[in-house]
This record gives sequence, structure tokens and C-alpha cells, in this order.
Amino acid sequence: MPVEIIPAILAKDEKELRRKVESVEGSCQTVQIDVMDGKFVDNSTWADPERFRKMPLPMPYEAHLMVEDPLERLDAWSLAGCQRVLIHAESVEDLAEALRVAKSYGMEAGISINPETPVADIEAAIAEADVVQVMGVHPGWMGQAFQEGAVEKVAELREKFPDLVIEVDGGVAVGVARRLADAGADRLVAGSAVFNSGAPAKSLDALRADVEFEE
Ligand code: DX5
Repeated sequence: MPVEIIPAILAKDEKELRRKVESVEGSCQTVQIDVMDGKFVDNSTWADPERFRKMPLPMPYEAHLMVEDPLERLDAWSLAGCQRVLIHAESVEDLAEALRVAKSYGMEAGISINPETPVADIEAAIAEADVVQVMGVHPGWMGQAFQEGAVEKVAELREKFPDLVIEVDGGVAVGVARRLADAGADRLVAGSAVFNSGAPAKSLDALRADVEFEE
């Protein structure tokens, strides 16, 4: 299965979000919507599920819930047609239960872990997860330097959970992408590497070329 490259949409308003989505339409299967509440992370983004319900996106998307109250938001995101939610292990008491509740709304449910969160903290909940997202940066901003520990964390997850879908978000760029794919990542989420280049479709092609396995 080729590694999927997922553009990260971090937007301050609806205009920016729609512009970014349009710029990658037809060049990717899925986009990730960065949902930041200014409390769980020290930045906030525009991402109103009600507007997504009224004006759906032209491709499937996952909501990366960088918020203090992910459980309160599941209903709205499922009504909006969100395919998958990523819940931060650091934002809920009972992670396995949070994943079960998210799936009860008909969405896929994934775990996201910050750089400082060890794999051990989520092992008990992984059976309930459709995907585990390893953060390559501390969440909140685009363009931060990749934290190397994410490579080892991907390798640890792959070794312990051979069938797990592993995603990485934060600091993904050409070169880093290759190392993450070699360590066992299935999906790579990229923000600045895609949107700061001025040619998002070309940047996506460059990332896909970087992770292509020689036959
Ligand atoms: C954390 C967000 C990431 C970020 C990725 O800040 O969850 O999706 O936008 O941006 P890059 O790829 O530039 O690190």
C-alpha cells in the first residue's frame, strides 16, 4: 500500500480554508482539518462543522481535534460528514471510551500523541483505534522543526502493532517523509511543505516521490 500524503489545512478563517482545500482538490485523497481551540494548544483556527455541513468539502477529510473538549464536538463533526476524528490522548481521561463514542457516531476514530507522550500511555487503547497519529512537532503551528523522536516512535508502534495504521503529522518534508515511511508510517500529514511552496500539487508529488518504494 503506498504511503498516503495528507495536506494539513490550518486556517484562520473560512476563506483561507476553502482556498487551501481548492488548491489541493484532485491532488490528494483526504485532507486534515486542524481544529485548534486556543486552550489545548496556544493557537486557534477556524473550523466550523456547521459550515462544513452546509457547504461540504470536495473530498473526504479528517478532523484533528487539538481541543480540550473533543467529546463535546463529535456530534457536530459527524453531522458535518467528517470521515475520521483524531483525538489527543492528552485531552481525555478515558481514551478507549472516547474512541468508542466517536465510532458510535459512525466516524473512524484515531489517537493523536504529542512528542512528549510515550507509546506506553496509549497501548491499552490502541485496540479501539483505527489509526494512531504520531506528532512530529508540538501541535499549534505550521513550519516547526521536525522532532526526530517521531521516527523511533513510529518504529516502536510498527514493531508492537504490525497491523496498525500509523500516521505522522508535523514537520513532514522531503527527506523526513522517506525516513518515516522506512520506519513504517502509512500516512504523512504535511502543512508548510505543501502550502508554503506556492505549488501545492507539485509539492504533493515531490512528497509522494520521496516515499515511493523501489520495486
Ligand atoms: C500541528 C498541526 C499540523 C501542522 C502541520 O501544528 O496539527 O497539522 O499544521 O504543519 P507542518 O507540516 O508545517 O508541520
